[in-house]
Amino acid sequence: MKFANVGRLDGKVALITGSASGMGMVAAQLFAQQGARIVVADFNATKAGEVAAEIRADGGEATHVGGDVSSDDDVLAMVDHAVRTFGGLHVLYNNAGIMLADDDNPVTTSIDTWDRTFDVNAKGVFLCLKHAIPAMLASGGGSIINVASFVAHMGAATPQIAYTATKGAVLSMTREVAAIYARQGIRVNALCPGPVGTPLLAELWSDPARKARRVVHIPMGRWAEAEELARAALFLASDDSSYMTGQSLIVDGGIVSTYTTPE
Ligand code: NAI
Repeated sequence: MKFANVGRLDGKVALITGSASGMGMVAAQLFAQQGARIVVADFNATKAGEVAAEIRADGGEATHVGGDVSSDDDVLAMVDHAVRTFGGLHVLYNNAGIMLADDDNPVTTSIDTWDRTFDVNAKGVFLCLKHAIPAMLASGGGSIINVASFVAHMGAATPQIAYTATKGAVLSMTREVAAIYARQGIRVNALCPGPVGTPLLAELWSDPARKARRVVHIPMGRWAEAEELARAALFLASDDSSYMTGQSLIVDGGIVSTYTTPE
């Protein structure tokens, strides 16, 4: 065996939605460091431009595109931008997602919150699959990572009913799309994080009592760092996971596998 010092994503083009912030941003930096050409796609075009510029300043290759994943036209433009800029598409990382402040139990959660959460978290993934898959097939295949959550696997008494339902939808889409394209060179897996210290959670759980309640159920006793999820995503994006499709990779500090936590 020869030992080559190559990046794990050399030659790949990766489109990462919601990569102006949080886990998506850290993944964009890590994937670029591993040789991928990155399309930073986000609702916040200004911040997306800054992330892409930072990657280029660090010696990587990146471009950015603004857009809303719940808009058919915007998603089409994101995929077109990737193909026009870098000549193909091999990795689609469906990371963009929202959790709205009044998302709670089914009785109090507004229909507007339900609809907007589904538009972004579920329809957004569907639209990205719709437009990216033809480009990936034309590029010889690749890997799709759909960000779900540990709440797609178990219920929480601290509810976010719309968010949880969307993540269940992401997980079932993942399995079905994996089955459809398994013989055409596209792998599709879900990444299911536990609580991660990103702006999404920091805003929502600035209340210390709410935060403490969630940490109690984490055997490791802490939130994840964004980089710990980006590394798991890198595994799914790269050929290191070449025989894995339709799976849910749970990176949650032990939450889902545990009934009681250590003192
Ligand atoms: P974040 O809030 O830090 O970043 C999300 C990014 O998505 C932002 O840059 C935002 O501008 C962008 N975005 C939001 N709506 C968009 C839209 N309609 N179109 C395009 N871009 C949009 O979030 P974070 O925490 O990094 O979350 C990333 C993913 O991980 C989400 O899908 C989230 O649901 C999921 N997740 C997060 C967990 C956490 O504890 N932070 C736990 C489990 C899953």
